[in-house]
Amino acid sequence: MNAPAKIILFGEHAVVYGQPAIAVPVSSLRAEATIRPAPVGTGLHIEAADLNEVLPVDLESDLVDNALILTARTVLKALNAPPPDAIITVTSHIPMASGLGSGAAVSTAVARAVAKAVHVDITLEQTNQIVYEIEKIYHGTPSGIDNTVIVYEQPVYFIREQPIEKLTIGAPMTLVIADTGEASLTRIAVGDVRKLYEAEPERIQPIIMEIGDIARRAKTAILNGNISSLGPLMLKNHALLQKLTVSAPSLDHLVDTAMEAGAQGAKLSGGGRGGNMIALCAPHRAEHIKEALLRSGAVRAFITKVT
Ligand code: MEV
Repeated sequence: MNAPAKIILFGEHAVVYGQPAIAVPVSSLRAEATIRPAPVGTGLHIEAADLNEVLPVDLESDLVDNALILTARTVLKALNAPPPDAIITVTSHIPMASGLGSGAAVSTAVARAVAKAVHVDITLEQTNQIVYEIEKIYHGTPSGIDNTVIVYEQPVYFIREQPIEKLTIGAPMTLVIADTGEASLTRIAVGDVRKLYEAEPERIQPIIMEIGDIARRAKTAILNGNISSLGPLMLKNHALLQKLTVSAPSLDHLVDTAMEAGAQGAKLSGGGRGGNMIALCAPHRAEHIKEALLRSGAVRAFITKVT
């Protein structure tokens, strides 16, 4: 049972305020949950492979502060099933706190594994709802874009509280994803933008609307396969995110590096303040841009194709 990472192409942060955003799954990076049977009467345990921790899933106790356990409990309650005698082991290849949706991907993988362990087919809609509930506990006021793109594993044009709109990619896009190596919690960045918005609504609201406009224009360009117009939109989106104070010197530096190395556009992706940036490249330039980003301080960089 598994789930992919994600990147946001356009519209992060503004999406929390009802503007559209575009996100795509990164299927080569995944979180995984495997199930093995346990002796009768031992109940359900979750093992986080990286953390060397095995925790019981107790349906009675409310004193839980662990996203994996809460996910498992929420699934069992939603499916009206008792804990199975099983151990679910979670492994993730998605760097944490880096804007790639590792939390939502791990929750999705666990939700799927728990449903399988109790032999119930869980729908995408149910999974999405459950993962969103967990996101709300750990991410403050999430828009729901991360869980949606990860659970459905499809490019989405997302507007909060509206039916999911899958996005058809008119022509393939080559992206380099590069990690600043600076961990950053989405919850903090989202909370800081909220404070800024409340302190100066007349300055911040137009920035949010402008980001929404960019996402709308990007949607049309993506549908039409007009990839060359996306680069300038990414740069504009990055500049607006700077104004929302969610960029960081490391992100700006990698964006500049990518542009100097010949990218068509670049921006931070996700919550910002660290984590990952993305650069749109002509396929034959991608390797060169990736190497430039690694030389300029990215701790990880890889090429992905959005199709
Ligand atoms: C995080 O991947 C995207 C944000 O817009 C937060 C959210 O939409 O929940 C920063």
